Amino acid sequence: MIYFDNGATSFPKPRGVVEAVHQALTRYGANPGRSGHDLSIQTSAKVYEVREAAAKLFGVEDPSEVVFTSNCTHAINIALKGLLQPGDHVIISDLEHNAVLRPIHALSQKGVEYDIANTYGRCRKTLDSFYRLIRPNTRLIACAHASNVFGIRQPIEELAMLCRDKNLLFLVDAAQSAGVLDIDAPCMGIDFLCTAGHKGLYGPSGTGLLITALGSSLSTLMEGGTGSFSANYEQPLDMPDRLESGTLNTIGILGLGAGIRFVRERGPAQIYRHEMRIAKEILHHLKRMPQIVLYTPDFDEGSHLPVLSFNIRGMSSEQVIEALSRQGFALRGGLHCAPLAHKKMGTLEQGTVRISVGAFNTREQALMLCEAIKKTCCSS
Ligand code: ALA
Repeated sequence: MIYFDNGATSFPKPRGVVEAVHQALTRYGANPGRSGHDLSIQTSAKVYEVREAAAKLFGVEDPSEVVFTSNCTHAINIALKGLLQPGDHVIISDLEHNAVLRPIHALSQKGVEYDIANTYGRCRKTLDSFYRLIRPNTRLIACAHASNVFGIRQPIEELAMLCRDKNLLFLVDAAQSAGVLDIDAPCMGIDFLCTAGHKGLYGPSGTGLLITALGSSLSTLMEGGTGSFSANYEQPLDMPDRLESGTLNTIGILGLGAGIRFVRERGPAQIYRHEMRIAKEILHHLKRMPQIVLYTPDFDEGSHLPVLSFNIRGMSSEQVIEALSRQGFALRGGLHCAPLAHKKMGTLEQGTVRISVGAFNTREQALMLCEAIKKTCCSS
């Protein structure tokens, strides 16, 4: 199977990740932060190393600002539901994944108000669109770093400046960008950086991160055992304990640590260049196939991530996925949990076929994929 579904989860994982998971199961099997024995202390130290590595990757000095979550959706829910109160107003973009849209929609049933800003890529027009929606009760802008369906990047740096000017908080859904784009959360003015651990950070599924200096001020989604202040009935204010109740996913976290090491060794910029070269090569070939409908024909470094969507005239996206799967290729079709983005692009009915490139994809694989797509077009 040739895998081009890295936007859903990256595969294969670096060898170091597999080894770290094995080690977690065979050498660091105790509950971190719960017991005083040596194995628990060693396991805690390993978990802390990962917290430090994540902090470094995202420019954070204090590792206690790193919260381990079970995925990006979990991180986003902790931030949104811990922060927003009835009467608060939020602005989101028209490219958001359901990970942002659905919690915001659920909050709107409890009195939180929201607007959706039209976006036009990394340009002034997008910024103006957000600007015009700001109201006296606006508390937060929540925006994906890039679309998980079309790869379109948002003007995150400029939005952060707008938030600073207008005294708003800023949440970035970096599910698709972490590990591929350089992100320095404090420098960029991101108050809540939410990401998956199992995509561009190459960790196992079941891992995610919330990075925030505001954790102590959030109300909690979950309360429970933290291994700290155990006599108190109340959830501790201390971070990260406040937002990490219950036993941690040590196996996933140690695997994530190795994934982060892999990303830091290669460097996000190099990973991005490699993946963009492959994505551009695919786009170049798709443009020459008359049956193909492309949604991001001008695909550029700076404006896109290596994620692109297409359709074949006369076929549903699911039919294309099945035909490609029969030829040995893994891609995702349908709505990719992002109905807003499909509504914007006019693909809500048909969905799209998505190609999402990873660090282990090669030019040869890209050419084989293009041949398979051509063959599928001919059979349509
Ligand atoms: N959000 C993931 C995707 O885009 C699962 O496929």
